[in-house]
Amino acid sequence: MKIRTLTALVVPLVVAGCTPPSSAPQLSSVRVGHCAYTGAFSKLSECKDYLGAWKVADAEKDCADAKGAFESGTVCTPKTFLGACLDARKPEQTRIYMVTENTGKCGSARTGCETFAGGYWDPSPICGGANDELVVLENAFAEPRHVCFTPAAGEPAGHSDGGQVCVYEGIHGATEEGRSFRKDANCDNSRSGRPYYAKDPNSTFADPDARRSDPAYLAEEAWVRSQINAASCVCCHSAASPNGAASLFDIDKEGSLANQFTDRGIAQGAGVVSTIPLGGWPAALNNGFSKSDLDHPTDSVFLTTDRTRMKAFWTREFEHRGLTAEAMARVPDGLGPLSEQFYFQPKACEGREGIAADGTITWGNGRARYVYVMGATSRAPTVFPNLDLPEGTLWRLDVPPTGTPLVNGTVKYGVVPEGLSQRFPVAGAPAALVSGQQYFLYVTADQMLPITRCLITAP
Ligand code: HEC
Repeated sequence: MKIRTLTALVVPLVVAGCTPPSSAPQLSSVRVGHCAYTGAFSKLSECKDYLGAWKVADAEKDCADAKGAFESGTVCTPKTFLGACLDARKPEQTRIYMVTENTGKCGSARTGCETFAGGYWDPSPICGGANDELVVLENAFAEPRHVCFTPAAGEPAGHSDGGQVCVYEGIHGATEEGRSFRKDANCDNSRSGRPYYAKDPNSTFADPDARRSDPAYLAEEAWVRSQINAASCVCCHSAASPNGAASLFDIDKEGSLANQFTDRGIAQGAGVVSTIPLGGWPAALNNGFSKSDLDHPTDSVFLTTDRTRMKAFWTREFEHRGLTAEAMARVPDGLGPLSEQFYFQPKACEGREGIAADGTITWGNGRARYVYVMGATSRAPTVFPNLDLPEGTLWRLDVPPTGTPLVNGTVKYGVVPEGLSQRFPVAGAPAALVSGQQYFLYVTADQMLPITRCLITAP
């Protein structure tokens, strides 16, 4: 999954995508303040100006949420920056500078701004011209490693060949039930695909809770903790997090587990808020653990060997808080770019994108690692392992992680250049395109970094 490049994006998890404005918006001259912080996704220094109708207290809170330093009445004055993301869609306007000299981030900064934050990207001179194309030359997505080992003396034999235990070291990977992912896999190899940052639990954590003296409740909670402990989730949601600082909930924390969650987190646990866009392995490939996926859309977000029992625990929490599905339908699902891309509905291409009579495919401004030609009604491809080959795919061409991305105009439909692999069909030529029919062209600089995603018409 979008391992490195997703973390290179610039948007908070909760921002829904919108169509970016095509010309620079007029920003207000009212300077409310500015905030210097490290971007949760970009991991870069960012500086945000609060302009127009912001109340100082709201701007200050927004800055505190980003763990930034706020100064009122002044604006950012970065010396070197890639560009600024301008957002004037609301009276509370913002201008966010990406403060680095690393021009390798120009493309992902632009995508983060335009595609996910719905802003207008105003590149600085160092990101102008040729640098503006979207290209991933380093740390391209690579499938997680499947590691196998023989359990230590005294431990039960593993369920894989030769009594081994086998684990995918990646997001959604799980070890065998009752074992500990943090021991069986290397957490430092397994956090890719999600952003990590330390975050305090929800304020409900401090609420008194009579259920803490109910042994049956505590036993069920202990089971939920042990299931989470068997999955990659433990790498950011326990003492195994970087510097021991968990993101929002911590299964090692004394006291209630569920009260650490926000309402939306509980709803994701109960499967009321869909978490299909996160992706996930089928149980058969993941030591019996699965989560909500296309086959089980209303399952819990939590990986489990007992789907009914896991959903039931969180459904009881959902009811305990008096939440309703209707109220939840009004809040964003919190999955950010993963949802924006999963639910994306393509329109007819408006630029140079297309396919010529000789099969040559033309895409937008970037170099491709993945080229998909799909039926017009196919879903957009997103994350490994289960959402990256949508039904209706006619042809998919992959550049290996260490390979050089493809220059526009060098790919012909159905022709596999040397050193590259045709992921679909598994063998042989793809179905011929029907003249005059629309197809969904999806070209990405890396997984989750689309260059082109629109409908082309076969010549
Ligand atoms: C690389 C770190 C990382 C990993 C691995 C990770 N998460 Fe998280 N998770 C986060 C962060 C950061 C947040 C907080 C997002 C926010 O609200 O700002 C979060 C929040 C959540 C929430 C929302 C909680 C709430 O109350 O709003 C749920 C549910 C969740 N994670 C489930 C999981 C599951 C299930 C897994 C394993 C498949 C997992 N996470 C793996 C980083 C991670």
